Amino acid sequence: MPRYYVTTPIYYVKDAPHVGHAYTTVNADALARWHRLVGDEVFFLTGTDEHGQKVARAAEEQGMAPLEWTDQMAPRFAEAWAGLDVANDDFIRTTEPRHREAVQRFLSAIYENGFIYKDTYRGLYCVGCERYYAADELLEGGRCPDHQTPLEELEEENYFFRLSAFEDRLVAWYEADPTAVAPESKRNEALSFIKGGLRDISITRTSIDWGVRVPWDDEHVFYVWYDALINYVTAIGYGEDPERFAEWWPAVHHLIGKEIIRFHCVWWPAMCMAAGIDPPAHVQVHGWLLLGGAKMSNSSVNRITPASLAEEYGVDPLRYHLLRDIPLGSDGEFSAEGITARYNADLANNLGNLLSRVATVVGSKCGGTGPAPDPASRLAAVAAEVVADTAAGWDASRPDLGLEATWRLIRETNAELEAAEPWKAEPGPAVDAVLGSALEALRIVAVLASPALPATTREIWRRIGLDGLPEEQRLPAAAAWCGYPGGLPVEKGAPLFPRRKD
Ligand code: MSP
Repeated sequence: MPRYYVTTPIYYVKDAPHVGHAYTTVNADALARWHRLVGDEVFFLTGTDEHGQKVARAAEEQGMAPLEWTDQMAPRFAEAWAGLDVANDDFIRTTEPRHREAVQRFLSAIYENGFIYKDTYRGLYCVGCERYYAADELLEGGRCPDHQTPLEELEEENYFFRLSAFEDRLVAWYEADPTAVAPESKRNEALSFIKGGLRDISITRTSIDWGVRVPWDDEHVFYVWYDALINYVTAIGYGEDPERFAEWWPAVHHLIGKEIIRFHCVWWPAMCMAAGIDPPAHVQVHGWLLLGGAKMSNSSVNRITPASLAEEYGVDPLRYHLLRDIPLGSDGEFSAEGITARYNADLANNLGNLLSRVATVVGSKCGGTGPAPDPASRLAAVAAEVVADTAAGWDASRPDLGLEATWRLIRETNAELEAAEPWKAEPGPAVDAVLGSALEALRIVAVLASPALPATTREIWRRIGLDGLPEEQRLPAAAAWCGYPGGLPVEKGAPLFPRRKD
């Protein structure tokens, strides 16, 4: 059985989860759900990044010990994701013993392989980014290009990772698999950075002790990024359960925002090579959710939490908007108007309307019992195309294209009903055929849309009288025409998506 291992970045616990974090997590969840649907064995990992100066300072500001504080913050992420119907298989915290042990094993392997050495480092550090900057990377006045804040001058004895030794191997890796980093523009960006020459990087600190201790030198803790990246192998048993590790690695799909390309597309593959394991198979880079043209961040969205949006619009409409309107790889403006427009067009007018008119007419013309589909319906061919196009979208890590394809079946079924007008016709075989085919289309849509709309598709499934759950079906068999058996009770129920006026 094919395996699909998908990860999100592990989020800093400094701030509460915001919609930008939800964007990545919901996309990863939907991709995981799609792969479960096609029968892959799936492992979906997310979690929290809890070490480093940023977190230590935030805890200090609260008058708390770092762990006490992260113990309070980490569950907020887990709860936010549960609230969005995110079904991750594991939630990793970098403060867990399993992670500390994996980091120490992984970095000891790199040390023993001769790619770590000690030196003195003096440089300009941005606590917000948790990294050093070279002078030519800074804005005027020596400010951080991301945070626009002044940098701190630090001088320390550090251990260094010999990143410079991996230039050729990284280029060879990129050339051997042109799809390893997607989209192509981001691949090219990472590759040209590598070709521009790589400097060794400082990977330990002595000035803070909130981190994983360097096993061969107690004075040092590992730098937060170095510790964090290793989470991806900790969770699948690196150095602890070799059989499990071999099952899941390197066939991983890392989903990341574009600001952390360098860490995932340069450092991380080099770290893997240095530790003697394969680099990750796939890094999928996505763009940003923007608010008024700027990257959405905690300072800009303190009131727009995922939970408040879910309460306002519903969990599934929020998920649908994130998946459908901001294609993976591009930036997208986030706005209330955008969610509402998508909600009214696709959910209220198309999907909700289809279910409600079919259930109403089955009630009035078929005594509430759903008829079987017409094997010769025009919609059978449409459905076959839609299934193929939907799969192509999801397989290309483009939920927006997958959903766009699925919605074609909804629109065509609505059009078919409008042409046949079964609500005006006498009950009989012709009406049964039209309604049975519309029910069959709804059944197929429920399966295909289940990765995006888990709760809604369960409700559709139940209302058209089917047993089990749409997400328990397996494609492609579950999308074959005439899967709806007929003779099932169809329930009208309240509108799934009442039209919004805002
Ligand atoms: N802790 C590091 C990642 C370590 S991974 C080994 C980190 N954490 S973070 O909390 O800052 O989260 C960054 C990730 O959150 C981004 O890469 C992206 O996936 C997501 N997003 C944060 N803001 C976002 C937007 N405005 N838009 C889209 N995604 C955003 O970096």
